[in-house]
Amino acid sequence: MEEKKVVTVLLGSPRRGGNSDHLADALAKGAEEKGYEVRRVVLAGKKLNGCLDCRKCWSTGTPCIQRDDMASVHEEMAKADVLVFATPLYFYSWSAQIKPVWDRLIPFFGDSAKVKFAGKRAVLLAAAGDTEEEAFAGLKESFRLACGFAKWKISGMICAPGMYPKTDMAEKGEKFLSEAYELGRSL
Ligand SMILES: Cc1cc2nc3c(=O)[nH]c(=O)nc-3n(C[C@H](O)[C@H](O)[C@H](O)COP(=O)(O)O)c2cc1C
Repeated sequence: MEEKKVVTVLLGSPRRGGNSDHLADALAKGAEEKGYEVRRVVLAGKKLNGCLDCRKCWSTGTPCIQRDDMASVHEEMAKADVLVFATPLYFYSWSAQIKPVWDRLIPFFGDSAKVKFAGKRAVLLAAAGDTEEEAFAGLKESFRLACGFAKWKISGMICAPGMYPKTDMAEKGEKFLSEAYELGRSL
């Protein structure tokens, strides 16, 4: 039997059940209906250090010399056909929970990489309090450039402005939730 394709959702908000989580749930529903296995990784609460720029990737046989929870995140990312980065907009950028995931990808790129993460697809889901779409400009550009670097194909970006309290997406985010659901179905 053919193995199911995997969507790995990296949840970057410290608020469980908040606005970006809701977007991720909607995408997951659509993807599951299309036969994907959806795996959720809750980043908040994990010990995820920043990159040390020590240039010792793989020197101990593992991607990184640091012994924190990133290895488990890497394992989940390795399984993914599609990586979903779900984040609240924090100071026009990534949350502190999800940013180290980007920085600690360094071992998987370049000539010395023993495991490669190239060839995946990626999705950005984000929520922000600001009502202007422009608020996401930096985040979207960061995502676009990072995916280019990683050689990941972008399958979609859904950025929902005007979502501030935790319940906003559930109460008034129908447009974005249905976009996320449709994106999940189209993966
Ligand atoms: C530390 C912090 C920084 C934030 N920075 C921004 C920002 O730069 N622009 C903005 O529009 N909203 C900002 N917000 C609001 C969140 O993006 C907004 O509440 C979002 O819906 C949270 O998503 P979540 O429920 O998934 O955590 C910030 C909130 C916090 C707590």
